[in-house]
Amino acid sequence: MTIQTIKTTPFADQKPGTSGLRKRVSVYQQPNYVENYVQAIFDSLEGFAGQTLVIGGDGRFYNDVAIQKAIRLASANGFGRVMVGQNGLLSTPAASHVIRHYKAFGGLVLSASHNPGGPDGDFGIKYNVGNGGPAPEKITDAVFARTKVIDSYKTIDAPDVALDRIGTQKSGDMVVEVIDPVADYAALMESLFDFPAIRGLFASGFTMMFDAMHAITGPYAHAILEGKLGAPKGTVRNGVPLPDFGAGHPDPNLVYCKDMYDLLMTADGPDFGAASDGDGDRNLIIGKNRFVTPSDSLALLAANAHLAPAYKRGIAGIARSMPTSAAADRVAAKLGIEMHETPTGWKFFGNLLDAGRVTICGEESAGTGSNHVREKDGLWAVLLWLNILAVRKQSVDAIVREHWATYGRNYYTRHDYEEVDAAIAGKLVDDLRAQLPSLPGKSFGEDLQVAYADDFTYHDPVDGSTSAKQGVRIGFTDGSRIVLRLSGTGTVGATLRLYLERYEAADGNHGLDTQVALEPLIALSETLAGIKQRTGRTEPSVIT
Ligand code: G1P
Ligand code: ZN
Repeated sequence: MTIQTIKTTPFADQKPGTSGLRKRVSVYQQPNYVENYVQAIFDSLEGFAGQTLVIGGDGRFYNDVAIQKAIRLASANGFGRVMVGQNGLLSTPAASHVIRHYKAFGGLVLSASHNPGGPDGDFGIKYNVGNGGPAPEKITDAVFARTKVIDSYKTIDAPDVALDRIGTQKSGDMVVEVIDPVADYAALMESLFDFPAIRGLFASGFTMMFDAMHAITGPYAHAILEGKLGAPKGTVRNGVPLPDFGAGHPDPNLVYCKDMYDLLMTADGPDFGAASDGDGDRNLIIGKNRFVTPSDSLALLAANAHLAPAYKRGIAGIARSMPTSAAADRVAAKLGIEMHETPTGWKFFGNLLDAGRVTICGEESAGTGSNHVREKDGLWAVLLWLNILAVRKQSVDAIVREHWATYGRNYYTRHDYEEVDAAIAGKLVDDLRAQLPSLPGKSFGEDLQVAYADDFTYHDPVDGSTSAKQGVRIGFTDGSRIVLRLSGTGTVGATLRLYLERYEAADGNHGLDTQVALEPLIALSETLAGIKQRTGRTEPSVIT
């Protein structure tokens, strides 16, 4: 097989963001765009000759085209084997597991996560390393540097691989194994959780709705929930992955899962509602009459993890991203285990997990996971919740209330302002940053006194690296916080994320509406940052 070296010219916009390179499909469709980026990744790696590369995606539009290109490039660049999910499918956590399980060199995860798909939607490519987690910054920085100077890529003139056919094929000299995307992952879940107990829960009449949002988790949820765990057929809805997610927005939050939320708030609704996003790493958890915020869910899962077989000996520690509420910190303190605050993005958890310093990690953006893989894992969170419900035999609402009565409640919300003019957003954050040195000690209203104000810098305790400018945070003496940062995953303009948190002690009032409880902080953040005033928006695009 002849290897072709094709001349190309660099694209200026191939800088990986929080989670790989996400762009509009039309950007990815430009000639050589995929090839340049994948070649830049390979050029930034060493020692993969003859090794295995895992490839899979969330099934969105352009997945199939990009995968065929990536396979040809992998072959030409000397990989020995590619393992690819049937029809190009692999959820992000399943891809992480396959990389680890088969000791692959790394993997390409093709997804734009919760962003809409289809010809007018988004596409993305992310490189994961051999531990199954997203490449650390030193690799993504090298990839970006390479994209700026790349002048050729290597490919082969070979026919498309039959992605629908499970089994072994060849692409040039390289072996291509098309694998069942669900089987290994489902076996992993079965090894972590008490499946007989969960089967018993469903057998006792417990009802659930799982919304796969026409994205990747459909086949996994069908196989695990309705197959292995005996949940009635129909428990999983929107379970067939579609290239445009059925024209929906596969982000499992209260905006895009509003109909399910409304149903859960009625007496006739199911006992438990859950959803996952485009690539299967996020989760939404709603009990009857009780939405569980992702930050609370992290704390609750950590506090109850010992009820599942995998964690019965306890957890080593917890990590959360900086903007995530401090609810989990209180659990860690009570358990006497390590607690780590990291920058936004799952890649920062990898070192802590590899070093065995933490077992459970989470982000306020509906991401929770553990040391079983190196990505957040939507179905894992749902199954751990089910395991806990099966053992505790209480409702979600009762478990949440008991948790607050023990640890106190961290009222928490995030206000997103999407597609804001990038220059305005950048200036707004710069101006707030400039105010930070003058804030500590200042009082606002009756009980808000600033304890600290800074731009978060993370010092990785495992490899000693430092990541600066990870978000502006203003902390108050009563534990309240205002956090502001710019999204690193948006594809149009800038997205401003404003995170607000207030702590109410164990014996305090836990029954307030979240937005009402946070009203003084919402008003103060407008005084300090002026988002509405400067952007001309009257309200956030999304409130979670
Ligand atoms: C967002 C979330 C972050 C998550 C990332 C990838 O990043 O905020 O927690 O890890 O998506 O799913 P952001 O757009 O804020 O940079
Ligand atoms: Zn995702």
